[in-house]
Amino acid sequence: MNENPMVPDLALPEAPAEHSLSGVANMGHVVVPGEIDVSHGTILYLEDVTVSFDGFRALNALSLAIDAGELRCIIGPNGAGKTTMMDVITGKTEPDSGKVFLGQSIDLTRMNEPSIARAGIGRKFQKPTVFEQHPVWENLELAMKTDKGWFASLRARLDRAAQARIEETLALIGLESEARRSAGELSHGQKQRLEIGMLLMQQPALLLLDEPAAGMTDDETMQLAELLNHLRGTCSMMVVEHDMEFVAALSGDTGKVTVMAEGRVLAHGTLDEVKQDETVIESYLGR
Ligand SMILES: Nc1ncnc2c1ncn2[C@@H]1O[C@H](COP(=O)(O)OP(=O)(O)OP(=O)(O)O)[C@@H](O)[C@H]1O
Ligand SMILES: [Mg+2]
Repeated sequence: MNENPMVPDLALPEAPAEHSLSGVANMGHVVVPGEIDVSHGTILYLEDVTVSFDGFRALNALSLAIDAGELRCIIGPNGAGKTTMMDVITGKTEPDSGKVFLGQSIDLTRMNEPSIARAGIGRKFQKPTVFEQHPVWENLELAMKTDKGWFASLRARLDRAAQARIEETLALIGLESEARRSAGELSHGQKQRLEIGMLLMQQPALLLLDEPAAGMTDDETMQLAELLNHLRGTCSMMVVEHDMEFVAALSGDTGKVTVMAEGRVLAHGTLDEVKQDETVIESYLGR
């Protein structure tokens, strides 16, 4: 208690929960995407991650690393643990054991979902989640504001910059001519691209996409591949997919593909390499 009546009793406000990144609490500041330490070339690092559901190991000592700027495709049979892995990375599921790091120093296992999103990880779920009643343009505007308090406060100054970013994103996701339409009127493929655009408004360092091409027509799938290829270098990406043509379009001849099965990595290499791997043929691709 403050004894001096001349000095106002100033209780320093505590940082809101979502700002306190426990993993870097001793660094005494809030992590922003630009601060992710990728000096060793790795944006995401998982080591020996295990998750059990009633004794069943959905993830079983899973280890993998994604390079900064990489677009990594993850394939594998149903129940391999691909979605569970994304749940662990985003803080939705707490692992029983193992390490999960964003860059060199951000320990994701010690952070909650909002903190992880703020630290720079965006996640696209299978089902598109857009604001159906709102125009496409407004969806992007809303996405930009949600998580960034500082952005909202600088709004007056940044209005023009914000507008430019929305326009840029509209062009990137190929929805310029749909800007004024309600998101609810878009096709499935367009909605998926809009949601990716919404994630991009947050300028994530790492994007996780769980079966983004599911339910798309062939044309929509190839448009999505084009978009993700275009994003290379802008952010790192982890794409879980069953559609092998889509995976081929993303990985090309040299991109690495990780095959998961039974909660761990079964094989890793170029798509051609993993396709020829005996264990992969047996457990996933079939003969
Ligand atoms: N919350 C949960 N409770 C109990 N079991 C779960 C839970 N979440 C996942 N599982 C189980 O863990 C295993 C891995 O599931 P997961 O959804 O991660 O697989 P996946 O590789 O994403 O499969 P798919 O390709 O079908 O999407 C499955 O056997 C699933 O039934
Ligand atoms: Mg899944």
